[in-house]
Amino acid sequence: RTAYVNGQYLPLEQAAVSVMDRGFLFADGIYEVSAVLGGRLVDNAGHLARLARSLAEIGISNPHPIEEWVRIETELVSRNGLDEGLVYMQVTRGAAERDFSFPKDAVPTVVAFTQAKTIRANPLAETGAKVVTVPDIRWQRRDIKSVALLAQVLAKQAAAEAGAAEAFMVEDGAITEGSSSTAFIVTREGTIVTRPLSNALLPGITRRAVIALAAEFGLTLEERLFSVEELHGAAEAFYTSASAFVMPVVSVDGETLGEGRPGPVARRLRELYFTFAE
Ligand code: PDD
Repeated sequence: RTAYVNGQYLPLEQAAVSVMDRGFLFADGIYEVSAVLGGRLVDNAGHLARLARSLAEIGISNPHPIEEWVRIETELVSRNGLDEGLVYMQVTRGAAERDFSFPKDAVPTVVAFTQAKTIRANPLAETGAKVVTVPDIRWQRRDIKSVALLAQVLAKQAAAEAGAAEAFMVEDGAITEGSSSTAFIVTREGTIVTRPLSNALLPGITRRAVIALAAEFGLTLEERLFSVEELHGAAEAFYTSASAFVMPVVSVDGETLGEGRPGPVARRLRELYFTFAE
């Protein structure tokens, strides 16, 4: 596999950064993930715009103009012969003597690599995913795609230990989002509900596309908070991300949700999203 590190394409085994990198020492950096389908990047402009925003929010100047980011991604997809999977990009504040405040002249570290992954024929989408709810113990700037992911690592591990694929995180009784996805429910009246954007959650790029698709195809959608109880009593639930696209949920905290199989709204949105992504 070929990875990208600070301007160089290298075999993954030779790709390395300093132990003094602030990403490693402080999680002082941000990342982005774009999907690849049929060798092409999905909704990539949105991901690169969010990457630029995350950098601006933490005061790192964007090391590359958009066109250069696209070149790096395209080069990695091509060198790795990637047909379906993900491109991961990370920028940290760089390597410097360990000191909390920003170093004077650190140069941002840029790392990118690809991961092959079955997205379209994902068997989980056929059966539907189980989710568990966990307390959202993260900081208050979840709108930044920070590499500080320990809370999400623990949430996903709790899900795995319960035999579930995703953890929905809860704050003040309401779902914020999935540990690596945006959470949606479909009420018994057929309304799709997802939390409005704020500092409490990541502005999902897949979320935005799904909201646009719902509007285009005449599905009712509300952006509002929804509680754990509402989730348990929903007709359907699903989650969205660059890696899962639209993933139907069939069980919450060990209880069957709705009919216990992927619901019609989630299945329709998954199909619509694939058509959009192609
Ligand atoms: N995660 N919320 C969180 C906390 C996320 O980490 C992600 C994505 C999303 C969905 O965003 P998008 O639709 O733009 O992928 C929401 C990526 C895939 C990851 O960490 O691997």
